[in-house]
Amino acid sequence: MAKSPRFLVVTDLHMTAQPRDGCPDPESRLRAGLAHAMAGVPNAELILLCGDLTHWGDEASYRKLKPFLDALPIPVVLMLGNHDDRTAFRTVFSDVPVDPDGFVQQVVSLGDHRLITLDTLIVRGEGEPLVHAGELCARRMEWLDNALTEASDAPCIVAMHHPPHATGFEAMDALMLREGEAFHDLIERHGNVRYLLSGHVHRTISGVHRGTPWAVFKSTVGQMPLMFEGTDSKVENLDPPAFGIVFLHDDGVLVHTEDFPAA
Ligand SMILES: [Fe+2]
Ligand SMILES: [Fe+2]
Repeated sequence: MAKSPRFLVVTDLHMTAQPRDGCPDPESRLRAGLAHAMAGVPNAELILLCGDLTHWGDEASYRKLKPFLDALPIPVVLMLGNHDDRTAFRTVFSDVPVDPDGFVQQVVSLGDHRLITLDTLIVRGEGEPLVHAGELCARRMEWLDNALTEASDAPCIVAMHHPPHATGFEAMDALMLREGEAFHDLIERHGNVRYLLSGHVHRTISGVHRGTPWAVFKSTVGQMPLMFEGTDSKVENLDPPAFGIVFLHDDGVLVHTEDFPAA
């Protein structure tokens, strides 16, 4: 019997070319996580990297990441987060598919399912300060509208770095996707989105929002402590890192998370 499609979710790598004070080494963490994942799920079809690929969004960090990903034996689907820089990313990863407006989003077929990945990195002008909340502007929303129309007969999984719903952490809920309710209006109109996948919060969390189930995954580096109140979004602890495993069955979706030993 053919196996159901399955893929790995690895998020919030925060790769840096230089060591970062108080942060585990992102490269050795990624290496350890992927070795654990490939051994445990040898028939995964792809690895979804769910944004915050780098910490500083600089070319040097992307150049450190690229050969590492190029050497993997299965396809990698790359997404951007608030710590990324679209221009620097596209300079280094020039062959990654983008939409007609240059946003890093695509549709991937996995058996009968479609995996739709969105680019929620805010667009800001030259010299404007970093913004950590997420954005789906009218052009990206229209692209998603068209993607869901084209996939009208297929069950869809939508992945984006910023959760389009609250997760219960006051500091991170202030930095979620700004257009979360408009996003849910859109997917409700289509009716073919089965599951939402996000990163950004650095913690294993799941729930249902307006009838659509969702999962958020741990980072490969620092994790969100149990601190629901407060406005400091930079707090992290050294809980074990993890990755996700998503199974796409004919009659539903299974989402696992697996802690891995820190290198
Ligand atoms: Fe992150
Ligand atoms: Fe993030």
